[in-house]
Amino acid sequence: MCGIIGYIGKRNAVPVLLYGLQRLEYRGYDSAGIAVVDNENGKILIEKQVGKIKDLQEHLWGRNINGHLGLGHTRWATHGSPTVENAHPHISQGGKFAIVHNGIIENYMELKKYLQEKGYKFKSETDTEVIAHLLEDEYNGNLLDTALKVAKKLEGAYAVGIISTEEPDKIIAIKKGSPLIIGLGKEENFIASDIPAVLEYTKDFIVLEDGEVALITEDNVEVYNLEGQKVQKKPLHVTWDVSVAEKGGYKHFMQKEIHEQPRTIGDTLAGFSSSKNEELFDMLKDINRLYIIACGTSFHAGLVGKFWIEKFARIPVEVDYASEYRYRDRIIDEKTAVLGISQSGETADTRFALLDAKKEGAKTIGLVNVVGSSLSRESDYVLYTYCGPEIGVAATKTFTAQLVTLLLFALEAGLKRETISKEEYDKIHEALLHIPSKVEEILKKDDEIKDIAYKYMNATDFLFLGRNINYPIALEGALKLKEISYIHAEGYPAGEMKHGPIALIDEKLPVVSVIPKDRFYEKMFSNVQEVKARKGKVISVATQDDEKIKELSEDVIYIPQTEDILYPILTVIPLQMLSYHIATLLGKDVDQPRNLAKTVTVE
Ligand code: G6P
Repeated sequence: MCGIIGYIGKRNAVPVLLYGLQRLEYRGYDSAGIAVVDNENGKILIEKQVGKIKDLQEHLWGRNINGHLGLGHTRWATHGSPTVENAHPHISQGGKFAIVHNGIIENYMELKKYLQEKGYKFKSETDTEVIAHLLEDEYNGNLLDTALKVAKKLEGAYAVGIISTEEPDKIIAIKKGSPLIIGLGKEENFIASDIPAVLEYTKDFIVLEDGEVALITEDNVEVYNLEGQKVQKKPLHVTWDVSVAEKGGYKHFMQKEIHEQPRTIGDTLAGFSSSKNEELFDMLKDINRLYIIACGTSFHAGLVGKFWIEKFARIPVEVDYASEYRYRDRIIDEKTAVLGISQSGETADTRFALLDAKKEGAKTIGLVNVVGSSLSRESDYVLYTYCGPEIGVAATKTFTAQLVTLLLFALEAGLKRETISKEEYDKIHEALLHIPSKVEEILKKDDEIKDIAYKYMNATDFLFLGRNINYPIALEGALKLKEISYIHAEGYPAGEMKHGPIALIDEKLPVVSVIPKDRFYEKMFSNVQEVKARKGKVISVATQDDEKIKELSEDVIYIPQTEDILYPILTVIPLQMLSYHIATLLGKDVDQPRNLAKTVTVE
C-alpha cells in the first residue's frame, strides 16, 4: 500500500508534498516522511516521523526547509514495523539518491545480501532500502539509464519515485504493479499514487502502465518502457473538482460520503445510460458462466449482484473473494466471463486474480470507480461508478453505486439475452429513478439513528441478520461496524441462525434485523421472533408503516417502500449511519481506522 508524492518546479516542494500526503493518507498512516534537495547546499534533506501526516507537519513546524525538488511518502507497514528508520524516503549510503516506494520487492533478501557483501550498510528493515543502494551502486552518470538497469533487477510489484543530487533537475518514476500517475502542470510536474493528491494543481494527468519509467523535469515528461524505448502517452483530463475531495462542512469524509449518496446514485444511473457499452452486452449473449471476484465491501456488492444477474440475465453466477479465487481450480472456457469489482481498481488480489483468469481465456470485465486505474486498463470491458474520490477508508457511496451498476448490468444483459421483457425492464428502471430521493429520506433520520447508536455503543458483539438479497447487506452492516468501531460483529442468513449462532443470543446481544416488506417478510419475522424469545435486543430496519415489527423490536429504523429487489440499496444506508455514529460516539477515527488502508496493493 502506501502513498507516494513527488514535486519538481518553481514552488517550495515542502507544502506541496505535505498537502499531497494528506490526500494520500488513506493509503496508509503509520509513518510518513519527505525528502527535498535543499536549495542552499544542494544536499538531500530527509525528515520522517512515526504517526500521521499531522505528526510530520508538527515536526516540521517553524523549520525553514526550501527545495524545488522533493518526494513524500505515507506508509502502511509490510516489511519492518512503523519506526522512523523504516519510514520512507530512504537514502543511499553516500546520500546522493532518495527514493519512495509503494509495493513489495520480492527478491530484496537476495539483493540485500549482494549489496551487504559490497559493503553497503542498511539502516532499515524494509525491502525498499535496496533500491536506494542499488541506484548508487549502478550509477553511470545518467539517472534514467541507471533507473532502468535497477528496475530490471527488481522482482515484485512496485511504484517508485527517485531523486538525486547528481541530477537535481529530474524525478524518475517507475511503475510495475502499484499505481502511479504524473500530474502535468505549467513549469512544474508531479508524481502521485492517485489523482486527488495533486488535483489542487492540475487536472491533466499521465497514467503510467506497468513496465513504464518516466523522466520528469520541470517542463517535460518522457515515458519509456523497460527496454529504454520511448512510449507515446495520451494525457487524461479529469473534470472532478477539488471540493469533491474535501470534507465540505462535514466532520468526517465517511459522513460526507454517506450523505452524498443521493447524488452519486443519480450520477451512476445517468453515467451508465450515457456510456452504455454495446460490445460488452453483445459478448454477454453467449456467456454461460460468470464469476464475480472482489474483496471487502466490493465483495458484498458482488453477492447482491449475483441475485440480480441470475434473476434477470439467467447467467449462473459464482461470487468469490479474489484472494481465494486466484488459487482455486476454476473452470474457464470461451463462454466464461469474470467480473472484477473494485472501487480503487488497484486491489492486488482482485487485479491478479482477474489477470490469471484472462490468461486462461475468460472474458474480463472491470467495475471500478477510479478512472484510469489498473483494473480498468487490464479488463477487456469496463463499467464505472460515478462517485468521484472516496476518501473514508470504509466504503459507503461506492457500495451503493456498485449495486446500481450491477442491477443495470443485469437488466441490460437480460434484455440482450431476451430473458426479461421490456416491460419488466422499464418497471425496474422507473423504480430505480426514485431511489435517490428515498435515500434522501433515510438520511434525514440522522439524529434518530444517532440515539439508537448511543443505546448500543457499549455492546461487545453485534449480530446482523438478513435473508436472500438482503443477506449480503447483513454482511456489509457487520463489516462496517467492525472496521470503524472495532466491535465484533457477524452477519448471518437469518434462516441459518438456528444451526449455530442462536446459541449466542442473550439479553446483552444487539441483533440488527434487515426486514423490509418483501416476499421473505414472514420468514424473516419468524426468525426475529426466535431472537426475541431468547431476549436478544432487536433493532429492525423495516419498511415504513410496518407496525407489526414494533412488537418484536427494541428500535425500528423505517425506510421508504420500493420494489422487492431494490431494497438492498436502501437497507444498507441506515446500517452505514449506525456504524458511523457508534464509532464516532466511541471516539474512533472513522476515516482512518487502525490497521486498515483504503487500497490494498499487496497480496
Ligand atoms: C480495503 C478497504 C475496504 C475495501 C477493500 C476492497 O480492504 O479497506 O474498504 O472494501 O479494500 O477495495 P476495492 O478498492 O478493491 O473495492
